[in-house]
Amino acid sequence: MSVSIRPLHPVFVGEVAGVDCRGTLNPEEVAAIEAGMDQYAVLVFREQNISDDEQIAFTRHFGELENYSTPGHIRQRTEQRLGPGIADFSNLDKDGRIMSAEDRVWFFKLGDRLWHSDSSFRTVPAKYSLLSGRVIPSRGANTEFADMRAAYEALDERSKAEVEDLVCEHSLVYSREAIGFTDLTPEETAAFRPVRQPLVRTHPVTGRKSLFLAAHAGAIVGWTIPEARMFLRDLTEHATQREFVYSHAWQPFDLVMWDNRQTMHRARRFDRNEVRDVRRTTLGGDVATLDQISV
Ligand SMILES: [Fe+2]
Repeated sequence: MSVSIRPLHPVFVGEVAGVDCRGTLNPEEVAAIEAGMDQYAVLVFREQNISDDEQIAFTRHFGELENYSTPGHIRQRTEQRLGPGIADFSNLDKDGRIMSAEDRVWFFKLGDRLWHSDSSFRTVPAKYSLLSGRVIPSRGANTEFADMRAAYEALDERSKAEVEDLVCEHSLVYSREAIGFTDLTPEETAAFRPVRQPLVRTHPVTGRKSLFLAAHAGAIVGWTIPEARMFLRDLTEHATQREFVYSHAWQPFDLVMWDNRQTMHRARRFDRNEVRDVRRTTLGGDVATLDQISV
């Protein structure tokens, strides 16, 4: 059976048929999925009941796993429920119990409900993220995606010229501050030093430009903080208007793959007394974004 993709939304997002994510893909299948990612930016694979190892192996068809020495938040390996190579985006602690509402790991997770692009707070931000839904709450918990190419293209010419050369500073400190979580340790504050990212990125294959926004962006180089925050807020509002947004209602064993270079996403609320077990593998980017601009 060959890979086929049908659109799920007028401007982006496709649903893939003809792929078993547990198996080894041949080069034609990998190329078809990559072409689908270039076109749709988000792909949905239904009924993929995969193990963690299978998810990691599937992800590696498309590049190298993101690998970094400083975690997104400070949690020791021994405190984690899952093995290396796969990130736990559930509301469970290491023993499989629903984590306390006061757990600071939960506070970090709540920050993911703001629009963001994964790892934009790293010098080399993530390329693709793959999220596998293992246990889905009975209500809510959608993941929403916004097409940052469509958002860029909808700007008027004067706005496009204004954003063209701007450089933003991204840090987990900014996005956590936005939800009132400021109680970071000195180690976390040091690990979350802001990194610089261009506000406009160009896709290496299609050449389409996109806005590189995220709740992690808290400053624009050369601008005052209040001016920058208001501009970023306005751009985010523009970029996440209804026509650019797809809301994914999870079914168990959906696997959703998105391109962080071309989209933003956010998690939506659910009853925290229900289990949500979703697991993410992440592909690292190729190069620092500012290096891409200068070459
Ligand atoms: Fe995310």
